[in-house]
Amino acid sequence: GYRDKINIAIDGPAGAGKSTVARMVASKLQYIYVDTGAMYRALTWFMLKEGIPSENSENVLQKAQNMVIELKPHVNGQKVLLNGEDVTPYIRSSQVNNVVSKYAQIEGVRTKLVHLQRQMALEKGVVMDGRDIGTTVLPDAEVKIFMTASVKERALRRYNELSQTEDISLEQLEHDIAERDRLDQQREVSPLRRAEDAIFLDTTSMSIEEVVDAIVSYCVIHWDGE
Ligand code: DC
Repeated sequence: GYRDKINIAIDGPAGAGKSTVARMVASKLQYIYVDTGAMYRALTWFMLKEGIPSENSENVLQKAQNMVIELKPHVNGQKVLLNGEDVTPYIRSSQVNNVVSKYAQIEGVRTKLVHLQRQMALEKGVVMDGRDIGTTVLPDAEVKIFMTASVKERALRRYNELSQTEDISLEQLEHDIAERDRLDQQREVSPLRRAEDAIFLDTTSMSIEEVVDAIVSYCVIHWDGE
């Protein structure tokens, strides 16, 4: 029927504004927002807490076996529960930022989280953001967006977010973001790349509202074209 629920995949590099935009699109359409980066972050935080380095992938996978990750909608976005504990406050620290790419490269980690993500999208009506949603997790998503912005702009956005709570320089952030891009694009398993059928959105000089409106317009085009 007209305006049946669809799935929306939003991919792109760190700091492109995916999560803010995805959350707003979900709220406009009354869809469920799924932040897959938060799942990789929660796993990373857990491994750091347990003292299991990313190099030791066998131990990582063993620990991950009885690890339960849940995403719960919340007024300020989303809560991430790990084995029932709310880990939302810890997963965006620099400590996690600096190593999350390494844990996200482990094939078994991706298999586990991708499986969970697909289950979350079975009923449709999901806005999912990440790196490999359009290519690997939901290749059949009805609307696919690849969002990016210049490294400078992304570093500035992260700086404005972090500078109140952490002593960090803009130059350091630019360096960290460029390095994380490199790792995310060059890894063997599910690298960050645009799906052929994804719409490319360079948001460097767009406001959040403009990006949200553009994505909702693509959904309307999809519905009208059915
Ligand atoms: O979007 P983010 O910054 O919260 O993502 C955190 C890390 O997780 C990032 O380094 C890439 C990785 N990631 C991934 O490999 N695949 C995804 N679908 C989402 C995130």
